[in-house]
Amino acid sequence: MPESLTHDVLILGAGLAGLRAAVEIARQLDGKVDIGIVSKVQLMRAHSVCAEGGTAAVLRTDEGDSVELHAWDTVKGSDFLADQNVVQRFVTTMPGEILQLDHWGIPWTRDASGRIEQRPFGGHSFPRATLAADKTGFFEMQTLYDTLLKYRCFTRYDELFVTSILVEEGRFSGLVGIHAPSGETVILKSRALLIASGGGGTLYGFTTYSQTVTGDGMAMAYRAGLPLEDMEFLQFHPTGLVPSGILMTEACRGEGGYLRNSRGERFMERYAPSKMELAPRDMVSRAEMTEILEGRGFKGSDGLDCLHLDLTHLGAEKINTRLPLIREVCIKFLDLDPIQKPIPIRPVAHYSMGGIETDINGLTRSGGIWAAGEAACVSLHGANRLGSNSTAECLVWGGITGGEIARALPKLPAAVPVSDARRRAAERHVQSWLERPVSESLYELRRELRAVMDREVGVFRTGEGLARALSVIREIRERMGRAGVADKARVYNSNLFHALELENLVDLAEVTVAGALARQESRGAHARRDFAGRDDANWLKHTLAWAAPSGPRFDYKPVTINAWKPVERKY
Ligand code: FUM
Repeated sequence: MPESLTHDVLILGAGLAGLRAAVEIARQLDGKVDIGIVSKVQLMRAHSVCAEGGTAAVLRTDEGDSVELHAWDTVKGSDFLADQNVVQRFVTTMPGEILQLDHWGIPWTRDASGRIEQRPFGGHSFPRATLAADKTGFFEMQTLYDTLLKYRCFTRYDELFVTSILVEEGRFSGLVGIHAPSGETVILKSRALLIASGGGGTLYGFTTYSQTVTGDGMAMAYRAGLPLEDMEFLQFHPTGLVPSGILMTEACRGEGGYLRNSRGERFMERYAPSKMELAPRDMVSRAEMTEILEGRGFKGSDGLDCLHLDLTHLGAEKINTRLPLIREVCIKFLDLDPIQKPIPIRPVAHYSMGGIETDINGLTRSGGIWAAGEAACVSLHGANRLGSNSTAECLVWGGITGGEIARALPKLPAAVPVSDARRRAAERHVQSWLERPVSESLYELRRELRAVMDREVGVFRTGEGLARALSVIREIRERMGRAGVADKARVYNSNLFHALELENLVDLAEVTVAGALARQESRGAHARRDFAGRDDANWLKHTLAWAAPSGPRFDYKPVTINAWKPVERKY
């Protein structure tokens, strides 16, 4: 592989947002563009393929749904921290994305009359999760990649681990990465960069994320001088399979499944009587933890006390046609058939509401850099995302950023040269891992990091617990200086990649926890025992975290409120 490569556009991340953007750029420029798609995994191994239950959009206006209702559900679900102009753009763009994917050939699940089906999801007041059985993300990815293949204007860089995003004089200049199969260091240059490399949920041990999702793009952008927004808001999905954490899609409840405690009660009656199991995720997760902490859970394996997701009343036909993946996973991982027995579940780390701050068009504060999907924070989800709004966000802002980049390209200056100083600093950064002593195990440090996040930065938080977590994270950072890489091989040095991932996770953990400690209120997924209520007078604002030598520096910016003033959130 040549040492330096230049494209018009680079896309970092080959999940839903990245592929949707690539298609849009190729389409708008009629294939007359040169796109490089960079991913540390093979294509179709991006975590987006794991999206299960559905993608939200308003399709059935004839039956009473409306974009206004979708917008209201999203704003209320966000605990009023979503920017309402962003929400409005999202809900009005989304129906077109569903139809566009349909035209590109996705096998949406349909009813007997041939109409695209939609199922209920939590916090939505209308069934609007558009589905392809319970493998929606897989089919969306497949359809987008098939569509992209029509254009011969892209180069795939699979298994290329990016180590730095270079910014010179406020503009993007290049990516430095290691090509795993050859071990060679590569510099990739372009006029525009889209960061679409996903969230950071493997900060936690009990998580739905693939182990490859380590927040690399967010952490590198942060170190390159871009602010991260609202990182304290981390979503816990109510139904993670115990003990693996594999996602038991919300569609299980959308199709009629119940949550039960050890007394057999459908306990959601006490917490959200009008929505029951289909309340928003922050509320269901808090209800579950309350049941467990008050002794109405079941003893789970690996010390993970749990509750039951009961599908047994749905019948074999429904489970086999609407939830085939769920049945397969339960049988393979637990030897448990959900047609006959309830599934052990508990809240599980699932989604980063925060990310790289962008404007409504996905542009960051750095010239030539856009961000989309879970890596970005366009302020759509606020403090709590509604289920099925995330694959939707990837499609909408993949499309928007793709269009913006296509329009901007003719005016963007040629790729800024990468200065020797920057390039050497990026190389030294990697080299330092290979040269430092190996008196600490980076795998032990990673285990300790995840354990403290699970213990202290979960569904419920306290100031004391967060302060303890912050001091453990800082100690882990200090010990990382003695946790070198034992494997010195060049080819497929996964030991080195794990070290670089750990560094990214530690940066994100510090921002998440310091931001959570600073935010002295409870809002959406951020529930403080010591500050129990929402405090709009002081905290109706977005957090921005900037990298500084002694840790993150915070400032805040207002929330855009143009339609709905905050009210009490009841379901
Ligand atoms: O439960 C699920 O299928 C997850 C969907 C989502 O996070 O949007």
